[in-house]
Amino acid sequence: MSQYSIKSLAEYFDVYRKSVSDPERFWAEIAEEHFEWHRLWDRVLYWDPVKPEVRWYDGARLNITENCLDRHLRRRKDQAAIIFEPNDPDSPAVTITYGELYERVNAFANVLKSQGVGKGDRVCIYLPMIPELAVAVLACARIGAIHSVVFAGFSSQALASRIADADCKLVITADGSYRGAKTIDLKRIVDVALESCRGVERVLVVKRVGTEIEMKQGRDLWLAPLLAEAPKTCEPEVMDAEDPLFILYTSGSTGKPKGMVHTCAGYMVYTAYTFKNIFAYRDGDVYWCTADIGWITGHSYIVYGPLLNGATTVMFEGVPSYPDYGRFWQIIEKHRVNQFYTAPTAIRALARQDLSYVTRYDLSSLKVIGTVGEPINEEAWHWYNEHIGQKRCPIVDTWWQTETGGIMISPIPYVTPTIPTFATLPFIGIRPALMDAEGRELEGHQVEGRLCIKFPWPSMARTIWGDHQRYKDTYFSTFPGMYFTGDGALRDAAGYYRITGRVDDVIIVSGHNLGTAPIENAINAHPAVAESAIVGFPHDVKGNALYGFVVLKGDASDADPDVLRREINGLIADSVGPIAKLDKIQFATGLPKTRSGKIMRRILRKIAAGDMDDFGDVSTLLNPDVVEELKQNAV
Ligand code: WT7
Repeated sequence: MSQYSIKSLAEYFDVYRKSVSDPERFWAEIAEEHFEWHRLWDRVLYWDPVKPEVRWYDGARLNITENCLDRHLRRRKDQAAIIFEPNDPDSPAVTITYGELYERVNAFANVLKSQGVGKGDRVCIYLPMIPELAVAVLACARIGAIHSVVFAGFSSQALASRIADADCKLVITADGSYRGAKTIDLKRIVDVALESCRGVERVLVVKRVGTEIEMKQGRDLWLAPLLAEAPKTCEPEVMDAEDPLFILYTSGSTGKPKGMVHTCAGYMVYTAYTFKNIFAYRDGDVYWCTADIGWITGHSYIVYGPLLNGATTVMFEGVPSYPDYGRFWQIIEKHRVNQFYTAPTAIRALARQDLSYVTRYDLSSLKVIGTVGEPINEEAWHWYNEHIGQKRCPIVDTWWQTETGGIMISPIPYVTPTIPTFATLPFIGIRPALMDAEGRELEGHQVEGRLCIKFPWPSMARTIWGDHQRYKDTYFSTFPGMYFTGDGALRDAAGYYRITGRVDDVIIVSGHNLGTAPIENAINAHPAVAESAIVGFPHDVKGNALYGFVVLKGDASDADPDVLRREINGLIADSVGPIAKLDKIQFATGLPKTRSGKIMRRILRKIAAGDMDDFGDVSTLLNPDVVEELKQNAV
């Protein structure tokens, strides 16, 4: 009696009911039937909402890579595990079978061991979207090292702070990366980062672009010769269910990024089960997620979820606009992609191009199309449905977070009827709650509030690396006993959820979460700046773009504003990354503040959006005059 693959709405409701009425029994059945364990658990769930502490499959022992690789060798040795599509459309795609992936992961695992890496050590992976990235992730998991993948678009400062926070002893990078027509000198970014990270003993370098780079004696080694000599089998480290599998950083509304810690067993079970159902993956299908493995989407739904199911997963190195805006659609035709998963920002950018970029390709292989990362607007949803899904393919609008590890609210394709802009129903085992500002749960339908999850699920992050108090404060203190997501949502008459967006100081730009504080800190580092505040404003392609209000120091008031703008964006690019650069910068003599000194961001948001009419209650403002000035000088 397998509930692993849900086939009808009635079955969804039935399985959902079981999963919430007896979660331990439900998750035990799924885990026992579909995965390989060295030892089963003593207890399915331990949950203390006060500490807060959660343990799933407590006492079980396993290695996730045996479930991703070894167990598939019997039936799938020659089946494609990864199809690598390079940046350059004229370079051949590379197919890596399960048999080959097994050998490459094991050889890499042996290299890591030979470099002194062992269970519990942290390894930073700073690589472009090339097969070595997936192999490195799995090689860490093979030996129980904790991977910390840092998106290779982050600046050296952002990289350095992540390496230092996790105290990584080894970094894996490449000489450079291709991004459309550009190449980026990754190794140089690592070199700068490591000037301030003394704990890193070893850097392994993949040769990708062939540029001349500096290799630091005694620290840096080329990977290829080490791999060539390494044995192709490596005994997996047998892990406890709750041993950390990886750390992945996400921006918070304040201060430094949060290293979310995910653990072995629960993450494995939940990502596999969601992948199977939410993409309706069937044997022989080719699945493609366009995210970068530097984000949680890539961890869960390029690497782990697909491989756990013995699927074929496409990895694309390039960008949607190179060599032209037809690149995604060309890849779908070329590899006969069946499931396609991307972000609203990509959909909006592609929808603006001439439709012939789409129509020149055969998209008839598609069965399911998905979206993730931010709310999808109705126009983009319809374009995606009509021109990509050709009205045949259900759209799965999947809501989840780095912290949740796997998809939480989503349709199940061919099962859940979809409505544009609604993520629809909670996935099996997930119990959402909407809360009002006073902390009361809003029961029933047609309500809108703050989105919480009121019961643990297997793939939830267990802590913030090195700062459990911050984990508690951020996620479990606003509404005691519940996980608070930071998002607002509404529930309609049918019980469907629509995510309305962040209710905290996180702004999502082109699908990237940006905390306001690190960006403001970067601006304030400019010698001419006294203080600053940034807000998001609606942008056709990016969803939101950034608008900065900058107050200059008295003696800087006659500086050239264009030079200042360039310098400010330069500082932001260096400390956070180019993605966080401001689209608009307005210089001001002050910021609207309450008597307690808090910036009233809602006023700034309205000005940035060009909506100057009604500012609501401004009676608590200390300096109401500044609002008039800000309105006059809006850019
Ligand atoms: C935030 C999490 C999880 C993968 C990528 C982002 C927003 C995500 C949706 C969606 C509306 C969405 C939320 C969430 N978000 N998916 N389908 N509809 N909003 O992971 O970087 O941790 O960001 O992305 O605001 O809190 P992340």
